[in-house]
Amino acid sequence: MSIQFAPDTGLLTLHTAHTSYQMWADSIGVLHHLYYGPSLGAGDDLRGTEFYSDCGFSPQPAGVEDRRYSLDTINQEYTGCGVGDYRIACLSLQNPDGSRTADLRFAGVEILPGKYALPGLPASFGSEDDCQTLRITLKDSVSRLTVTLLYGVFEAADVITRAVLFRNDADGPLTLNKAASACLDLPFGSWDLIHFQGRHCMERQKERMPLPRAVTTLRSARGASSHHHNPFAILAAPDAGEEAGECLGAMLVYSGNFKIECEVSQMGSTRLVAGISDENFSWTLAPGESFTAPEVLFSYSATGLGDLSHQYHRFLQEHVIRSRWKDRPRPVLLNNWEATYMDFDAERLYRIARQARELGVELFVLDDGWFGHRVDDKGGLGDWQINEVKLGCTLPELIHRIHALGMLFGLWVEPEMVSADSDLYAVHPDWAFAVPGRAPTTGRSQLVLDLGRPEVVDHLYQVMSHLLRDNDISYIKWDMNRNLTDVFSRALPASRQGEAAHRYLLGLYALLDRLTTEFPDVLFEGCAGGGGRFDAGMLYYFPQSWCSDDTDPIHRLKIQYGTSFGYPPAAMGSHVSASPNHQSGRSTPLATRAIVAMSGTFGYELDLQTLSDEEKEQVRSQIHTYRSLQPLLLQGRYDRLTDAATDRYFTAWQLTAADQSTAVINLVVLDPQANPWPIHIRPRHLDPKACYRDSLTGRVCSGAALCHAGLTLPALMGTYPAVQITLERTE
Ligand code: GLA
Repeated sequence: MSIQFAPDTGLLTLHTAHTSYQMWADSIGVLHHLYYGPSLGAGDDLRGTEFYSDCGFSPQPAGVEDRRYSLDTINQEYTGCGVGDYRIACLSLQNPDGSRTADLRFAGVEILPGKYALPGLPASFGSEDDCQTLRITLKDSVSRLTVTLLYGVFEAADVITRAVLFRNDADGPLTLNKAASACLDLPFGSWDLIHFQGRHCMERQKERMPLPRAVTTLRSARGASSHHHNPFAILAAPDAGEEAGECLGAMLVYSGNFKIECEVSQMGSTRLVAGISDENFSWTLAPGESFTAPEVLFSYSATGLGDLSHQYHRFLQEHVIRSRWKDRPRPVLLNNWEATYMDFDAERLYRIARQARELGVELFVLDDGWFGHRVDDKGGLGDWQINEVKLGCTLPELIHRIHALGMLFGLWVEPEMVSADSDLYAVHPDWAFAVPGRAPTTGRSQLVLDLGRPEVVDHLYQVMSHLLRDNDISYIKWDMNRNLTDVFSRALPASRQGEAAHRYLLGLYALLDRLTTEFPDVLFEGCAGGGGRFDAGMLYYFPQSWCSDDTDPIHRLKIQYGTSFGYPPAAMGSHVSASPNHQSGRSTPLATRAIVAMSGTFGYELDLQTLSDEEKEQVRSQIHTYRSLQPLLLQGRYDRLTDAATDRYFTAWQLTAADQSTAVINLVVLDPQANPWPIHIRPRHLDPKACYRDSLTGRVCSGAALCHAGLTLPALMGTYPAVQITLERTE
């Protein structure tokens, strides 16, 4: 049993393969958090680890005389508001009388087989063999708000998921001004925060810092999870590294405005609260109505960041990404964006596709510029009919020509947006977010459709499903090229405008649910100006996401490194583009570009006709190599052998087959040395007793020797040289 409840003591203990989690409902119904860490013994009761002291200015709940008992110092599972806990609150409740108080007390538990689902929201899934569900009911007896804490205990995966249901059991309305998904109070220890910040073209840059005695907030107010902060954070012991040390992650399964807040309290405990951002958020519950806060995935590792990442990679692949494509080899694609931008007709596209096919590319993707009157990025969004005048043919004719080459056909769309210069906007100007009486702010000259309105979602479903039904399209790149502003929905009354940003997400998820259910064999790739919505919420629908609009391989090393802490390489769209690179102007060897792109879903984003014959042969052989590496990407283990955020000499990473029969080490030299230092790397997770041949020297030695003594490479000179070393088990 992975969930145990002792009604006599109120102790609740969750067990996964390597971790335990303990809570306690005390005699007045306050739910304490006692522990999350390595597995406890059966019957362990950690109430004795709590510390009670009258620390002054920490008040007592009504009826409690003992001044050592305060919600301000007790570590809690989920907080109320306005009743004496001055740390970050999980909840902000507005009662009809204007008071902003909720005192949550334990009202019961239920243990169920299998995994709970969340209405309208992406959430992890699993069978009764994978998972058990715990429902803890908390009630505020005065407001009659019922808060149900949901826990999914994935035993083998070492993941505990959390989400919250709020129900108004009162006779009048209740308004939630904050409704976090989870709180985690770590009673002891000092922690570093590892988070992933960035900007467009430089997403998910790892940053690590000791948590100060203050509130630290990671957040997005952009209506998307954003390029700037990822909804994933790690708390790591100061000495934790890739191969050792305590660390735990919190990953939101949500793609909109979020907040992950951390606070080190006066008593030295650390609180992490994660959920939808409360900025400009409110949600009114009429009597009997419910609200669901999205899911958070917690995972803990006592053996370092490498294992923590591996736990997340496996979990996302097995229990979050639901596409049929998650285990299928992904076709090697050619995307025409950096090859042509919007300057193309069918003939030009065909010639590019034909060359790509000759070299082994399997999927041709037509990017932006094929529809409506889209001559540049100022118009046309919303009109999803092919521009036959520009292309010189119909869409079926173009697809037919691509198919005749023996290639699959894929298409770019950006359905959530509308250009003021479009037929859709001319008919439905009120469908775009705008505040009456104010000219709306634009981003990339475009406006955002209010997906909180069911008729907008229905329209997009009709248009996209026709496109997919009427045409043999194997792949869709679903883009979102600006963030939300003027978030005002004409479908909502003034008092409910705080719901508009979350309703946008609910509409988007409903749309994606319908489309991906109806077209399960279409490979969808998420994109938001590159990696502006790279999160577990989108991965639930789309098995891969374009990692960044920056295709410079040296920048990509850091972007893909940061992304890898939470997300599997099989989810990262990564392409070989032209040199000099269009974003940075930097020149790099073709081999280096390919080695970097092979750690994601591989493709090309340049006109291969422009390459020399020798380079074309390289492309042919890269595609061949990638096909043989795909099983490693999909099922293998990914390890970071260097810290790409700080190591200046070289960056290395490894992919290892689940059965340890093969591993591939990739290495890129950033700064070649005169009188060079040796490049020495230690592979990981090989079978110590097996023998492996390395493709670099042909030498055979044991996994133990490789993992402990490592590999020493010859000096690599020149401009960003790279090597790919295969380790094959010999018997
Ligand atoms: C975004 C995407 C790019 C490309 C352009 C087209 O920026 O990230 O890959 O599709 O849009 O406008």
